[in-house]
Amino acid sequence: MNTQLRNPGTDGEVPLTEAEFARIARIAKAGWGLSLESAKRPLIRSRLGRRLKVLGLPGFDAYCDIVESGDAQECDHFVSALTTNVTHFYREVHHFDLLEKEVLPGLLERARKGERIRMWSAGCSTGQEPYSLAASILAQSRDAARYDLRILATDIDTAVLKTAQEGLYDPKICIFPTPEHEARIFGDRPSDAASARPGQRPVRPELKQLITFRRLNLVQPWPFTGRFDIIFCRNVVIYFDKPTQMQVWTRFAELLNPGAHLLIGHSERITAPADVGLVTAGITAYRRQGPIAATARK
Ligand SMILES: C[S@@+](CC[C@H](N)C(=O)[O-])C[C@H]1O[C@@H](n2cnc3c(N)ncnc32)[C@H](O)[C@@H]1O
Repeated sequence: MNTQLRNPGTDGEVPLTEAEFARIARIAKAGWGLSLESAKRPLIRSRLGRRLKVLGLPGFDAYCDIVESGDAQECDHFVSALTTNVTHFYREVHHFDLLEKEVLPGLLERARKGERIRMWSAGCSTGQEPYSLAASILAQSRDAARYDLRILATDIDTAVLKTAQEGLYDPKICIFPTPEHEARIFGDRPSDAASARPGQRPVRPELKQLITFRRLNLVQPWPFTGRFDIIFCRNVVIYFDKPTQMQVWTRFAELLNPGAHLLIGHSERITAPADVGLVTAGITAYRRQGPIAATARK
């Protein structure tokens, strides 16, 4: 080991060499599809540097050894440090307008006839996205939980999934498009303010009934057999390089029922949607159409 690495830099932090950064970038790409540009080196040094301190490690190579050994807990910390979990209820509200006006009426009609309806919030972070989706559904159909209609909410990060599953949020830091949207999430009766944790408010229990939370890495194999009727994957693939993004779009398209929507984040674009069997259907919204071109498959 290079003993120089044991010495903190002038800012008191352990230095991150170019070679170490390259190793971290290789691990992040291979395991999670994350693309780390060199401009991110100071950020990575600071974020992963905190893990070095917690673990009492002399340098980043020793840290990489632990992550490469497959230590599940440290892998979680690693991916958590490299990504952001920013989200909020009814984020990018135009997607929920599209959902409520163009998508849900048809899906609920099919659900009432006994059809199976599946929705996926991929990269759900702390849960605000699937809870907003559930709240939109219940606003149109109070008894939706009686149908074969479910939302799958997945993320790679077990810490954010725990928060999502708890469904407890600080109302002071929640932002909503309107008070009506807030009432859809937390309810409007004073008794709903009672919480297991001071300062935090539980989401309406009816919302939880519609959602299943699971850990899932989007760049590993997926365990699904059935198709989805809508997929939200917003502000997630922004971390992936272009080929990985294209692979994920292709896999989403293959899993959508014909005519079903894929909604992506505000700074993401599918450059050639037709190549993966999608057509543009609004702002960062796409629909599955026809069979997928063989060339787009991996
Ligand atoms: C910025 S949040 C987006 C949350 C929500 N979709 C939204 O737009 O508000 C990005 C989430 O993607 C997750 N993520 C990053 N890489 C992932 C991967 N390879 N597989 C699954 N989730 C991943 C992160 O853990 C994080 O919670």
